[in-house]
Parts: sequence; structure tokens; C-alpha cells
Amino acid sequence: MSVSIPLEQLLAWIPPGHPDEGLARQVNVDRLPAHVAIIMDGNGRWAAGRHLPRVEGHRAGIESVRDTVETAARLGIRVLTLYAFSIENWKRPASEVGTLMTLLKRYLRSELNTLLRNDIRFGVIGRLDELAPDIQRELNDAVERTAGNRGMLFNIALNYGGRAEIVDAARRALASGVRPEELDETRFASFLYTAGQPDPDLLIRTSGEMRVSNFLLWQIAYAEIYVTETLWPDFRRRHLLEAVLAYQKRERRYGGITPAEAISAQ
Ligand code: FPP
Repeated sequence: MSVSIPLEQLLAWIPPGHPDEGLARQVNVDRLPAHVAIIMDGNGRWAAGRHLPRVEGHRAGIESVRDTVETAARLGIRVLTLYAFSIENWKRPASEVGTLMTLLKRYLRSELNTLLRNDIRFGVIGRLDELAPDIQRELNDAVERTAGNRGMLFNIALNYGGRAEIVDAARRALASGVRPEELDETRFASFLYTAGQPDPDLLIRTSGEMRVSNFLLWQIAYAEIYVTETLWPDFRRRHLLEAVLAYQKRERRYGGITPAEAISAQ
């Protein structure tokens, strides 16, 4: 699979006549969000609704990760960032944290070939040096083995906090010896974990909560926010397409006014 002919790659994957085909055909490939970031929420509620332990929600969420990564890559999204584990998530019971780390390891092992086959480059953002050595090895291996890929960049945010990232960037800036008068927004962004990547145009949050939860605080300055009631383990291709279509209906202003407003103001 290559990302050079977007919609075609996506349509080839959707069974003809499937309801998602109609959604896919509505997407304007010339106005895709370059970077989609997702706060995957609602795994615990999904499990509770089925009288299952919370970790079963995380397990089920892996299938949503697979489907979302493939949809985004086939659609021609340049960067996809999934929030898998925040710095605050260490407060959860040790057994839940352990399961999340095991799931992540299993995901990387089982999906690495799919990422390679689909030309997807894998990246990780967060305070990685605080993760267990075996997880760090697994992550570094996936990053190195996909480094030559030229398709979508798929970032996982792990042991990630938006404020921590800004503090880390400030520390790096100081250590680099940059002079205060040289430090502007562009230069500062080059010290963030996401240096060189476009900022998210679209931030999706599942399960209905209206919060940004310390995710990509610097980068989401002008992102369009899309909240869906769908719980993460139920999130599939259709939901990503719906989010992209909603994004394409928005008028982005970046603090200014739209061309239509400019004409009527004359
Ligand atoms: C939030 O649901 C979800 C998480 C804290 C973890 C998300 C992780 C995965 C889907 C699996 C691993 C990820 C990858 C990328 C392989 P919650 O537990 O806070 O749900 P709740 O708000 O309903 O309790």
C-alpha cells in the first residue's frame, strides 16, 4: 500500500456497497487534515457496560487502534498521533498499568510487519527513559525498523504529558545555548518531541468528555476539536471518516476572519 493515491487505497479496502463507501467518497482529499491526534477514551466504561474487568476495554481498544491506523494511512493522512499512556496514568492500579504495557508490546510485535508493508513510519513521544527497559527496547526496535518508510508517521504518546513536554523543550533550549532573543515560536517548537511535524489540524476525543487532558498542549493551539460519544473500543473506520468530514465542514480562522467575512466587512 502506498499513500500516493489516497481515496483509491481506501476504497480498495472497503467492500463495495458497504455504508463506509459512501462516507469515503464524500471526503475531499485536497483538504485532509495533515495531522490527526486522538485521545482514546472510554475503555473502562466499555468494559463496565459488559460487566468485564477494565483491562478488557484496553484489550478491545487494540482492534480500534489497528483499524484507525489503517484507515488513516489509506486515506493519506500524513501524521496520526494516539494518546496511549499519560504521565498521570501511573496513578492507576499496577495491574492495569502492567496490562497496558503488555498490550503495547504485543501490539508492536504483531503489527510491525503490517507497518512495514504499509510504508508506515513509527514514532514515540513522551518521557521514554522512564519506561521499563524491555518496553524501551521494543519501541526503539519499531522506530529503527520503520525509519526508512515514507508513508504516514504513526506516533504513540507514551508516558506523555503536554506540560512535561514544554518543560523538556525549555530544558533542551537552555542546554542548546540558544540566546533568549533568538527564541521565537518556530525555534521553540524545534525543541518539542514533535519537532519537524505539522501541528494537529484535528483533535478527536472519544467517549464524550470535553477535555484536552494535557495532550499536545503547544501543538493544538489551532486544532479543530471533535468529540464523539463513541467509546474507544467501538471506534472504527466509519468514525474516523465522520470526524474528517465534520472537520472539512469547519471554517478555520486562526484568529482572523474568513474570506467571506472580509468581503462583507468592506
Ligand atoms: C482511556 O480509557 C484509555 C487508556 C488510558 C489507554 C488506551 C490504550 C489502548 C487502547 C491500548 C494500547 C495502545 C496502543 C497504541 C497499542 P479509560 O480507561 O480512561 O476509560 P474510562 O474513562 O471509561 O475509564
